[in-house]
Amino acid sequence: LISELAKRKRTRVYLVGGVVRDLILGFPNYDLDLVVEGDAIEFASFVAQKLEAKLVTYQPFGTASLFVGERKRRIDFASARQEFYAYPGAPPQVEHSNLRRDLFRRDFTINAMAISIYPDDWGELFDFFGGFKDLQKKLIRVLHPLSFVEDPARAIRAVRFEKKYGFQIEPFTMSLLKQTVREGLLAKIKPDRLKEEIQLILRLPGFYSYLQRLYQLDMFPYLFPGCVWKSDYDILYPRLERLIQEEASTERLDFFLLKMTPLLSDIQFDSLEAFVERLHLSKRFYSQVKTYLGRRTVLERILQEKTSPPSRVFEVCSEIPLEFLYFTLAKFHDQDLARERIRNYLTKWRFVKPELTGSDLKQLGIPQGPIYAKILRELQKARIDNLVYSREEEIALAIK
Ligand code: CTP
Repeated sequence: LISELAKRKRTRVYLVGGVVRDLILGFPNYDLDLVVEGDAIEFASFVAQKLEAKLVTYQPFGTASLFVGERKRRIDFASARQEFYAYPGAPPQVEHSNLRRDLFRRDFTINAMAISIYPDDWGELFDFFGGFKDLQKKLIRVLHPLSFVEDPARAIRAVRFEKKYGFQIEPFTMSLLKQTVREGLLAKIKPDRLKEEIQLILRLPGFYSYLQRLYQLDMFPYLFPGCVWKSDYDILYPRLERLIQEEASTERLDFFLLKMTPLLSDIQFDSLEAFVERLHLSKRFYSQVKTYLGRRTVLERILQEKTSPPSRVFEVCSEIPLEFLYFTLAKFHDQDLARERIRNYLTKWRFVKPELTGSDLKQLGIPQGPIYAKILRELQKARIDNLVYSREEEIALAIK
């Protein structure tokens, strides 16, 4: 349909970037990026009208996004800048020079191909820089030596594509990447941008192997200040990933924090602030890690001590952010007692409720105040320890 509309407007439109790469590789990719030889906003508005789709424009960038259909699938439109106009019948290099220029400013050859969706040459692949050959050779290659200088976040992208597709970073590109890291250019990546790139990695299966690779390439100081990769993560991380898939997926958790817990459990406290600032994380994130680091010794002692009553385990667990409890579950995978206790907390104890409620306490003539929360908590603990079984027993305890 967009193709027909392009014909009506006599505007050449191409599918570009990651979706072309994934189409050729046979990977799913639902991000449609289109490049328009002309005014992208004008064309997108025209398409929006015809498709009755929601349109968002970004005037300063000359780009627009459409949200189409029930599932609001996103289609991005960008302009290939028209610095001079191709005339009909011009040789192909001239005719497609705007497209070529647009593709040349991209990160890697495999991401710098376009497929025309204009009816006259529908489906034709435009590959000016050998992207197709690099896809076949499984190589990640920059288009020009300044690629990482233009956007140092591309170093992280290179690692993502390398691992995700099982490709290799071509030797010259690798030497440029290493130089970029050595020269400290990664420090220039803005926190929000950095967080986005890391999030893209954290969503992938085996996300930890990407983190390990970033460490191996000496990027950690610029991405995760105060963190290093430790050999026990090789065992811990796959366990954590399994837990996330099998047990934690239905919880309301901060998955960024959860997936970072191994690194953060070993961070020097002095570096925590720098870490949070580098990735523009929230105050809440900071205080959750701080709480864990402060309470970890007590938590681990109580989990392992044979004599700890369930209510004591409950108490200490309830102080720890859930993300770190899942981490501790992975860490204590081989310790039956501690593991069972965390499981009990996660699946049972935290949901135990006393029968009595605030209004019951009021009826018992107990004066209102913060004491209510305290009593209800004591009742909950007594239930967890199986010290009370009935409403009557709860009343007796509450009065006491
Ligand atoms: N791009 C670039 N430099 C960047 C980021 C993006 O040149 N630092 C270009 C690439 O051509 C890329 C396209 O913009 O293909 C779209 O970027 P994005 O949607 O972030 O990535 P994809 O390549 O689509 O990959 P994925 O969907 O796996 O993130």
